[in-house]
Amino acid sequence: MTGAQADPIHVVIRTPFAAQMIAAMPDAALIVGADGRVTAANAPALRLLVALKLGDPLVLALRAPDVIDAYRRVMASGEAETVQWSERVPVERLFDVSIGPLAGQGGEVGAALVTLRDLTEIRRVERLRVDFIANASHELRTPLASLLGFIETLQGSARDDARARDRFLAIMRDQGLRMARLIEDLLSLSRIEQKQHVRPETVVDFAQTVRSVVDSLSPMAQDLGAEIHFAAPDPIWVKGDRDELLRVAENLIENAIKYGVRPDADAALVEVAVARTGKEATLTVRDYGHGIAAEHLPRLTERFYRVDATQSRARNGTGLGLAIVKHILTRHRGKLSITSRIGHGSTFTAALPLHLDRK
Ligand SMILES: Nc1ncnc2c1ncn2[C@@H]1O[C@H](COP(=O)(O)OP(=O)(O)OP(=O)(O)O)[C@@H](O)[C@H]1O
Ligand SMILES: [Mg+2]
Repeated sequence: MTGAQADPIHVVIRTPFAAQMIAAMPDAALIVGADGRVTAANAPALRLLVALKLGDPLVLALRAPDVIDAYRRVMASGEAETVQWSERVPVERLFDVSIGPLAGQGGEVGAALVTLRDLTEIRRVERLRVDFIANASHELRTPLASLLGFIETLQGSARDDARARDRFLAIMRDQGLRMARLIEDLLSLSRIEQKQHVRPETVVDFAQTVRSVVDSLSPMAQDLGAEIHFAAPDPIWVKGDRDELLRVAENLIENAIKYGVRPDADAALVEVAVARTGKEATLTVRDYGHGIAAEHLPRLTERFYRVDATQSRARNGTGLGLAIVKHILTRHRGKLSITSRIGHGSTFTAALPLHLDRK
């Protein structure tokens, strides 16, 4: 069979069908003719490649030499290829670009189907997972190294020193507890993540839930020279998981006591309020401490993110508290907002939908 030249009538008839096919594809897809011009493109492709115009050469819309080279090779060889293409502006994005040959009437390669699969999100999640494992291992390794060091000392030089033994055992216990707390937090984070898409069904009194946290944290506040003021009209009904809502309140109030209180100044006050605002129940925790610089605010809910890691560790913090709070609130269709001013303190507000069937 001789390689017939592209039949113009055939192309005209075929294009609407090809255009329909790619219109039904979820990823960005386009068809590029043998002359390098784009003959069809679906909506995702038009959104992605803003300079793309049907009938124009592909090279004008997609300034990616690797992709254009691959297209040429596919047209010459008839073998499909996949290359990666990354875009830096306006935001960094990464794509798998697959180029498959489409046979012309005489069996020659008459056009190519170019599909672009967005890998950005997959890559981001991958990086998060890798970072998370690295961070978690690092957090566990530090107390573990200290435990092993003390065990060695107790087996060696401090073997018969009763006073040193007591002191070291107390430190070892703290390190052990620290590891246990970290593992407990990691496990609850993963449990909450698993339940992320299952809405809680029970109806709880949010005001009473927060009140019980205030009561249980009062001794700790007193030890650190802080005073908690609590205001709430009882009851405020929400659909929620009581244990999880307890954790939200516990974390926010504990943070305010641990990081937001300056017992030296008249900044030893932590104000906790539960209120109804519109269709939402809100928990506001306000402190009058040092405040948090603006650049940290968007990152506070990241796992292991701490403004001052030494200070947090000294207060037994794992850096997972606000990550847990955020996940719990997401599950409850709620959200966390944070405002802070250096020298004036911080306000953390957790908002979740009210349960409207009960007053
Ligand atoms: N009210 C606050 N004032 C100042 N800094 C705060 C306040 N709340 C949180 N932070 C900062 O945010 C960081 C993250 O808080 P998060 O609750 O996630 O972790 P943590 O308290 O260190 O550990 P954990 O909650 O597991 O005990 C803290 O380490 C602290 O630096
Ligand atoms: Mg915390």
